[in-house]
Amino acid sequence: MYVAHLSLHDFRSYATAEVELSPGATAFIGRNGQGKTNLVEAIDYLSRLSSHRVASDAPLVRAGADQAVVRAAVVRDGRTAVLEIEVNPGRSNRARVNRSPLPRARDLVGLVRTVVFSPEDLTLVKGDPSDRRRFLDDLLVLRAPRLAGVRADYERILRQRNSLLKTARQAGRRSAPPETLAVWDEHLARVGAELLAERLDLVEALRPYVGKAYETVARGATRDDADIDYKPSFDVEGRTGRGDLADAMLAEVERRRSDELDRGVSLVGPHRDELLLSLGHGPGEGRLPVKGYASHGESWSFALALRLASYDLLRADGDDPILILDDVFAELDTERRAQLADLVAGAEQVLVTAAVAADVPAALAGTRFTVGNGEVVRVDGD
Ligand SMILES: Nc1ncnc2c1ncn2[C@@H]1O[C@H](COP(=O)(O)OP(=O)(O)OP(=O)(O)O)[C@@H](O)[C@H]1O
Ligand SMILES: [Mg+2]
Repeated sequence: MYVAHLSLHDFRSYATAEVELSPGATAFIGRNGQGKTNLVEAIDYLSRLSSHRVASDAPLVRAGADQAVVRAAVVRDGRTAVLEIEVNPGRSNRARVNRSPLPRARDLVGLVRTVVFSPEDLTLVKGDPSDRRRFLDDLLVLRAPRLAGVRADYERILRQRNSLLKTARQAGRRSAPPETLAVWDEHLARVGAELLAERLDLVEALRPYVGKAYETVARGATRDDADIDYKPSFDVEGRTGRGDLADAMLAEVERRRSDELDRGVSLVGPHRDELLLSLGHGPGEGRLPVKGYASHGESWSFALALRLASYDLLRADGDDPILILDDVFAELDTERRAQLADLVAGAEQVLVTAAVAADVPAALAGTRFTVGNGEVVRVDGD
């Protein structure tokens, strides 16, 4: 798939922008702070309804405006659809496809699929477990958009259950837990088990691609060096089906009941799980967690490998996602720049941003735009 046209209204620094795009490689070049990332962020937002840079929607709306609109003509298998999202911070966002409103904004998710590489990816490796859970869930939803509902349900159930636990804690140690808690235990276990099962499957599917991707981006590495592993918040050994996982989770919730009442939060479930990243250093050397041990270069290579693996996995599903390489070449030496460029050059559409044109490898030269003073201008025939 590829984006053929992008329109922005009051999105980030842009009052309006209209950009005609083609398949293949496109580079946006401009000085720092000129709005390059803002452009590609708009496409990523359309894909996932969240940004790789901020957790809330408010910064996406141009200062002084009260809503932003991102519209894109997306071509998939020769057919064009116009996708649109109206970002209304503090109120619900509204989505349209070919001008017809969708019942819920999240129904838009997955209609355009993106994989973004950016300097922020370092948080995948160095950040909190929640950063890695978000990585997994975003990928889950891109592969199976119906899981956006499961994810939202789980978050809602967790919030309700946490507020019940908090109230119970405030009521005092001696008071019996409210009867409604049992109902929320069931909901949490049922939906939690579904999310857990999906993540376990995803990690198994992603694993082989991670080793391969790391070998490509890290100099001198082999495909056995990098590995990922899913670590649930409770023992799931031998449990596979959703019902089975839900039973195990419910049993664990009951076992941890008094801890939960003491602390006033839910301690069991996929919101406490971790995606472990580890690196080996040659045969017989054993494996070490990346976080806390890996060098800066290794961490950055691992983050790139996770993105590259996601891209390969989505591609293996049969649909080429749009690749966005936001400011990543400045971080890589010439050899690895060329390696990464060769790997992604075959993608149906690759959007690259860089402050300096010379940082963009030849394989990704393609169409070029300059970004500056709020304008996005195509540079012809160089
Ligand atoms: N909501 C907003 N309203 C107005 N301006 C904004 C808003 N959000 C961001 N900006 C402005 O957009 C600019 C940043 O744009 P962007 O991040 O796209 O830059 P860039 O070209 O990618 O720069 P770099 O090369 O440093 O990555 C900043 O000047 C910032 O102040
Ligand atoms: Mg940028």
